[in-house]
Amino acid sequence: MEFRLAGEDLAAIEADAVIGFVTDSSESESPVGGEWNRHTSGLFGEIVARNEFKGKHRSTALIHNPVGLRAGRLLLAGCGDRSKLTLARVRDAAGTAWRQLRTAGVRSLAATVPDGLDANEGVRAVVEGILLADYESDTHKTDEKDRSVLESLAISVRDASQDALDRAVATAEGQNRARELANEPGNLLTPSVLASRVTGLAQDTGLECEVLDQARLESLKMGALLGVARGSKEPPVMIVVRYRPDAPAPDGPHLGLVGKAVTFDTGGISLKPPADMHLMKHDMAGGAAMIGAVLAIAALKPSVAVTAVIPSVENMPGGEAQRPGDIVTTRSGTTVEVLNTDAEGRLILADALTYAAELGCTHLVDAATLTGAIVVALGNVYTGLFGNDKDWTGQVVQASRRAGEKMWPMPLGEEYSELLRSPVADVANIGPRWGGAITAAAFLERFAGDTPWVHLDIAGTAWFESKQPHAPVGASGAGVPTLVELALAIG
Ligand code: BES
Ligand code: MN
Ligand code: ZN
Repeated sequence: MEFRLAGEDLAAIEADAVIGFVTDSSESESPVGGEWNRHTSGLFGEIVARNEFKGKHRSTALIHNPVGLRAGRLLLAGCGDRSKLTLARVRDAAGTAWRQLRTAGVRSLAATVPDGLDANEGVRAVVEGILLADYESDTHKTDEKDRSVLESLAISVRDASQDALDRAVATAEGQNRARELANEPGNLLTPSVLASRVTGLAQDTGLECEVLDQARLESLKMGALLGVARGSKEPPVMIVVRYRPDAPAPDGPHLGLVGKAVTFDTGGISLKPPADMHLMKHDMAGGAAMIGAVLAIAALKPSVAVTAVIPSVENMPGGEAQRPGDIVTTRSGTTVEVLNTDAEGRLILADALTYAAELGCTHLVDAATLTGAIVVALGNVYTGLFGNDKDWTGQVVQASRRAGEKMWPMPLGEEYSELLRSPVADVANIGPRWGGAITAAAFLERFAGDTPWVHLDIAGTAWFESKQPHAPVGASGAGVPTLVELALAIG
């Protein structure tokens, strides 16, 4: 697809359709958008007068053959209250608008940016919103495909930078790649298939990729990861993708991105109930996010070194599966009593965090669909964010704000860590019922050691269980924008 910044003069742009943004002002309760009257010879005013369109967030109005434009269709997209405009709100408004047009044969699209937002911020919101909304989770449908035929996108804006456009495109494409991987079902995307898909993607992007196989994991003594993999016929892998900058800052940070990639989570011997178990095909969304992020980072070339470490297993209850009560020895030497085989994400991440630090990562972020408890706490709105270092945690929170992703700081502390005591091993893999997202994070904290580390529990935000106005059902790509923002901020 082709993207370009076009001048401010919307009437000069030739396109099949135009998306135009409208805000409302809480004072006057009427949409702000006098320029649309000019482009539609007064139709805009009429629609407003008839109360058909008020500029409310995610509302739209379609105008055919707008006389003042060289486009067959104008879709007005409401962004809501002008004083509350944010990147995220405009991104959703843009996506909602494009979901309405995407199957209507639009090949060339033009869009404005809402005024009230900084021009670069506006470009980012609109481009990301449209690209994310253009994604469809229908790879395996052989009929009734809702195909988009979009070929070009022109943004009509004054004083925006090419850099802002490039960042938006790379970020959204990285996010869509993460969604593509996370949406694959467990039979089609096993740990080995994930490894070969990532190897291919890394090759296309000029990234180094190394896949550690079972024998290598055994020689590295990754007992926690290997324990989870035992119940499956599918061998485990650890995927390592490296981005090395051309001119690394001497003594600069080395970012480690660790992502949980359980290609299917049955719970193992601590088997999950059948209702909704199919959703556990998304249990590799954390790993997928790290892959999407490192691909975007490679396209944007910051000066920070980034290593993605993705432990991947299938959690099955086969005859050789680990049992509740088993004791495994992690790569760090710490022994773990596996009280519940369904708490597998933290086991594979324990070995991966140790390994990432060994590879020289000075700052770690992990992303994982780790606990149902975080969904109880924060619903499907905020990602839970935990950390062992105030400064690093603050940097990730700030990056999430700038990237327009909702992440909420959660606590850690010895009161929680103590809940993981085991009478027979160094630590147990689960705590008592309450505070389950926190005890899971406290378990990981132990394996991050002294390295500044942030844990993102994306169990509530990694996928949409139903179709959204701006997105199809399935993986959301949560985490990718924040991680890209973070790498660019420190690099
Ligand atoms: N992958 C699940 C967590 C999950 C649950 C993600 C619901 C998304 C939606 C994880 O491996 C898991 O099973 N966690 C258990 C932990 C428990 C056994 C302590 C959970 O949350 O129930
Ligand atoms: Mn589980
Ligand atoms: Zn899981």
